Amino acid sequence: MPERAVGIALLGGGVVGSGVIKILADQRELLRRRTGLTFDIRHVVVRDPKKHAELHASLPITTDAAKAIDDPKVEIVVELIGGTTTAGEWIERAIKHGKPVVTANKSLLAARGAELFTLAKKHNTAIAFEASCGGGIPIIDALSKGLIANRIDALVGIVNGTCNVILTRMTRNGWSYAKALEEAQKAGFAEADPSLDVSGRDAAQKLALLASLAFNARVVESDIHVEGVDKIQPADINFAGELGYVIKLLAIAERAPQGSGFRVQGSAARNSLNPEPSSSLTSMSSVVSSLRAEGRTLNPLYLRVHPTLVHKDDVLAEVSGSFNAISVYGHALGHALFYGRGAGQMPTASAVVADLVSVALGTTPLAFKQLQIFPDATSPADVLPIEELQSRYYIRLMARDVPGVMAEVTEALGRDKISLSAVLQRESDEGQYVPVVITTHMANEGAMRQALKAIDSLKTIQPPSVCLRIIDQPREFGGG
Ligand code: NDP
Ligand code: HSE
Repeated sequence: MPERAVGIALLGGGVVGSGVIKILADQRELLRRRTGLTFDIRHVVVRDPKKHAELHASLPITTDAAKAIDDPKVEIVVELIGGTTTAGEWIERAIKHGKPVVTANKSLLAARGAELFTLAKKHNTAIAFEASCGGGIPIIDALSKGLIANRIDALVGIVNGTCNVILTRMTRNGWSYAKALEEAQKAGFAEADPSLDVSGRDAAQKLALLASLAFNARVVESDIHVEGVDKIQPADINFAGELGYVIKLLAIAERAPQGSGFRVQGSAARNSLNPEPSSSLTSMSSVVSSLRAEGRTLNPLYLRVHPTLVHKDDVLAEVSGSFNAISVYGHALGHALFYGRGAGQMPTASAVVADLVSVALGTTPLAFKQLQIFPDATSPADVLPIEELQSRYYIRLMARDVPGVMAEVTEALGRDKISLSAVLQRESDEGQYVPVVITTHMANEGAMRQALKAIDSLKTIQPPSVCLRIIDQPREFGGG
């Protein structure tokens, strides 16, 4: 096998960058034997070299990114600084030199993926981004190659390690939200700005990338309805447990069932469960006509990230700590589950090094050039408004324990054609406010918002009531 040394520049030597340095040093011989390649780190670009003096004493640490990127001995540029501004500028600089880029930066790709991919193609080079979603799980490779023969119907994932650590610790150890977040931060899972994680935005950015590949449609972060874990209360974790569920932050992209009535115009999908004025909806027939007029195929999607009650028997309920799992439903394959460590130094570095090998071997550049699945080559996704979603719901009301209160609540639900599946209320002193937990059968989200508004305006209810969605996988997504 012909052997080759590949010069690389590492932009960033933090959690993930240090993992890449470690794998390339410790596994140099294994990589050489398996691939015929050795990787020479020619520059490690950081903000504060003093921090790295001891740890990376033998490495070429620098603050001069331009020199590192422009170095003719650097063949591949690895961007691991995060953020969108500087990272974007440096990636552009590398691409304009015709140098392929490996990145773990989902924020940047979710915001500017199409533009950067177009630029890369113009300069006859490529962007590899396996580490951007699911940490060490090869989900990008699976969606762009292994599952290429499938029409994907749904993708349901736990894709944020920080949120999963928080929910796992709150559920299993009874920890507070703050203590659980601190653990994720200490372990290096959380983003530099952890509000990106807990607000659900990190998961939405990953979903945008995964859904774009899965559905051959350009999805951007703002297409996705997002709710985070920052408002989850221990009471709801406990009630969910009593009912046989665990709460997980799920990222869900699914094709709308045949006959769904509406699609979004503009940004209607960006609401929270708190009822808001309904956005501009148009009927399906006018959508079909306008899409046809634009020469586009009808492929409406529901795209959402939110805390979800998942039944304890569901495989996703068992995914704990920093582990991620992505269930993919393909028409030919059926249900496939991709499971592994979704964050952290070494799992993420594993994906970065895999990309380095694929880029150096030429497989990523070839796929990048040939496959028409990346966001630069696809049309914007047709996104349905969350109000049109059909789901089961968990509601927790704080109700005054007085005669007639349940009749008023059930009347409000009944008016909006919402059927109850279970009701839970503990004994308490008469006249006090007590939690009443209700689960529903399948209902329309718009109707649920309307009913909640009516319930929260009752004199016997202390608003705001909590409302979370329940999913029944795989029945809902047609898997087996
Ligand atoms: P860190 O904050 O640990 O590391 C960032 C590195 O980039 C540091 O070495 C920092 O320098 C350097 N850096 C940041 N800004 C600049 C700048 N303006 N100029 C020069 N150097 C700069 O981040 P992570 O390693 O955790 O994350 C890197 C990327 O990987 C992000 O895009 C993140 O979203 C992604 N990712 C992270 C995962 C994780 O588990 N941590 C998992 C999957 C993806 P200095 O050391 O001097 O501060
Ligand atoms: N902050 C991210 C997480 C890192 O917690 O999942 C992995 O992308």
